[in-house]
Amino acid sequence: MKPYKVGLLGLGTVGTGVVRIVEGHQHHLMSQSGSPIEISKILVKDKSKARSISISEEKLTENPWDIIENPDIDVIIEVMGGIDQTKELILAALERGKHIVTANKDLMALHGPEILLKAAEHGCDVMYEASVAGGIPIIRTLIEGFSSDRITKIMGIVNGTTNYILSKMSQEGAAYDDVLKEAQQLGYAESDPTSDVEGFDAARKMTILGTLGFHANIALSDVSVKGISKVSKEDIAYGKKLGYEVKLLGIAERQDEHISISVQPTMVKQSHPLAAVNGVFNAVYIYGEAVGETMFYGPGAGEMPTATSVVADLVAVVRNSNLGINGRRGFVPYQEKKLKTDEQIASKNFILLHVEDKAGVLAQITQVFAEHEVSLESVLQHPNQTNPLAEIIIITHDANKASMNKVLKQFESMGAVHAIKSVYRVEG
Ligand SMILES: NC(=O)c1ccc[n+]([C@@H]2O[C@H](COP(=O)([O-])OP(=O)(O)OC[C@H]3O[C@@H](n4cnc5c(N)ncnc54)[C@H](OP(=O)(O)O)[C@@H]3O)[C@@H](O)[C@H]2O)c1
Repeated sequence: MKPYKVGLLGLGTVGTGVVRIVEGHQHHLMSQSGSPIEISKILVKDKSKARSISISEEKLTENPWDIIENPDIDVIIEVMGGIDQTKELILAALERGKHIVTANKDLMALHGPEILLKAAEHGCDVMYEASVAGGIPIIRTLIEGFSSDRITKIMGIVNGTTNYILSKMSQEGAAYDDVLKEAQQLGYAESDPTSDVEGFDAARKMTILGTLGFHANIALSDVSVKGISKVSKEDIAYGKKLGYEVKLLGIAERQDEHISISVQPTMVKQSHPLAAVNGVFNAVYIYGEAVGETMFYGPGAGEMPTATSVVADLVAVVRNSNLGINGRRGFVPYQEKKLKTDEQIASKNFILLHVEDKAGVLAQITQVFAEHEVSLESVLQHPNQTNPLAEIIIITHDANKASMNKVLKQFESMGAVHAIKSVYRVEG
């Protein structure tokens, strides 16, 4: 039987796992897909680099066009990362009728619609399961498993680095900077951690999940983003006292066709399943009108978990090819995108204030909330250990973002309020 030929762009962490699975599970993959699968050419930056798997010299190339222009290659697996050059290569491959499997969330979040359009023009498959939550099959779940339901909320812990940092801070009472340093030493955080800790990586993944969940072309610029670099161990300790864990959540919501999408550190009630997701693990919580609550949990990265998703996509492409249906079942967003205004975005909130420790201040504070029609679930006040100010922790009921912004602005100009120490969305 003629083997299905793969061109692999990249032989790093994920590419190595792909080779291990394709070579190690040949019989299983053939029974799943209907064809033998062969990796015929692999693009690397440096052919002389030592590899942890044995690869014959003639399979490696440093020239991407050896793969893109090779008429024998049926599918390209892109696990080299990057955006501009990678996009050019993928579009060129699609023009030549090659199917694409990619793990590249940066590329799909920024250029997904253009790539999917090109694929449709050329009757090609583009699959990107590993681009969100590495080893969790969340993209197939959204496209196929939820095709009968209407999703109203997606909440994701989709960045392992930040979840590792926040879990450690919570478990050990440690400070952000110390845990970040440790995460860098262990290889869980990059030497430049900006993309992870400032929430940009999670925002790219939420762009993909929101687009699939709500069938609208959501752009990266539609996601409001706040990272974890300002989360203090004091915030985490107060949260725990009140029954919350701080998690970096991607939150996509839909109500009456209006969508909001954000990434932000969030106080998650300890009884909510997302609060129990610790370390580098990922989880995606999805609420469907018919099904109700669901949650998907697993490894968000790593050689073999990520390669599992990549090779599952490869099997799907080969199966489609044997059935003659490549490019026929692509995901097509059919909803017009309507973003919520600040008046339409509502949530509970946690606010920690430092205020003058004297009679009447608490009444002034609660009066500000009342003026802007924000009702309160609880108010706690106690003297600060280290200075003459009092600390007030307020949990609001659901309040819209516009009203909350007005409340915070008013606090900024009040003499009795010395500092708005922190503000978190509350979930669960
Ligand atoms: N690592 C994970 O757990 C994970 C999880 C989910 C998604 N992803 C995504 O998967 C992709 C790959 O990640 P990775 O961790 O496997 O990356 P990696 O370990 O850095 O490997 C990248 C590979 O691509 C090759 N490469 C990079 N740029 C190249 C260029 N311009 N020309 C030729 N070869 C080039 C490198 O060649 P050399 O080997 O010669 O340097 C290397 O083999 C990224 O898009 C990433 O976001 C990764």
